[in-house]
Amino acid sequence: MSTLLITGANRGIGLEFAKQFHSKGWKVFGTSRSLSNAKKLMDIISNENVLVLDVSQQDQLKAVKDQLYKRNIILNCLINNAGIMTDRVGIEKVSQDDMVQAFRVNSAGPVMLVHNLLPIFDNGCKIVNISSLKGSINDNTSGGYYSYRMSKAALNMAVRSMSMDLQKKNIAVYALHPGWVRTRMGSAIAPVSKKRSVNGMIDVIDQLSISDTGKFYNFKGEELPW
Ligand SMILES: NC(=O)c1ccc[n+]([C@@H]2O[C@H](COP(=O)([O-])OP(=O)(O)OC[C@H]3O[C@@H](n4cnc5c(N)ncnc54)[C@H](OP(=O)(O)O)[C@@H]3O)[C@@H](O)[C@H]2O)c1
Repeated sequence: MSTLLITGANRGIGLEFAKQFHSKGWKVFGTSRSLSNAKKLMDIISNENVLVLDVSQQDQLKAVKDQLYKRNIILNCLINNAGIMTDRVGIEKVSQDDMVQAFRVNSAGPVMLVHNLLPIFDNGCKIVNISSLKGSINDNTSGGYYSYRMSKAALNMAVRSMSMDLQKKNIAVYALHPGWVRTRMGSAIAPVSKKRSVNGMIDVIDQLSISDTGKFYNFKGEELPW
């Protein structure tokens, strides 16, 4: 049985990943910042596989690794999904606090989780980082969204570095854009359902191999510009 860990699995795209991977027979571990907000996740996977994690907290990142390690868990896939959008504003209203917080969660969080989990990645493991087209410098023709765009562009850079650092261990690292999806972050007017986005991303993850490591794709499998 294949095993994966999904961050921010209590709602939105992360919860949908948990649902779909579970129904495909994967052993799913999911994280949530609080157990009291993880009831829907606990309806899908057993309570003991729900782990508390705020990805900006170093002690919690280590605690997640320790819990998995003690249970002899080896991961075949990690989905760095947890993310925040701290602002949607233009240059007149930017705030340093928003930028720093977005960097902690969207950029440093995924990298520090990978760092902590190094001892428990299987040979052939796939590390999937849920990025955003808003993090593409090439695609930015509308401006704004400073904290979000900058933090996802930084995540994209980390994907390239991690892909090179981990290739010798046969671990692949990708950035995926889920589309504009109807979640709390994406809002009710987004065109893509969680089901369609995640279904597409799982197909993409299935099809990618180590030769595609360090690349950026959308949920339809199209390669995106950095
Ligand atoms: N929806 C879109 O259109 C869209 C487009 C492009 C990219 N994305 C990316 O897709 C991912 C999932 O987004 P979503 O649309 O599902 O958003 P969402 O509905 O707002 O869910 C975000 C998830 O991240 C968790 N989270 C937030 N801060 C965290 C932290 N510090 N530590 C751990 N978990 C934290 C949330 O937990 P709480 O419940 O505790 O807040 C929640 O589980 C994000 O990385 C987002 O940037 C989304």
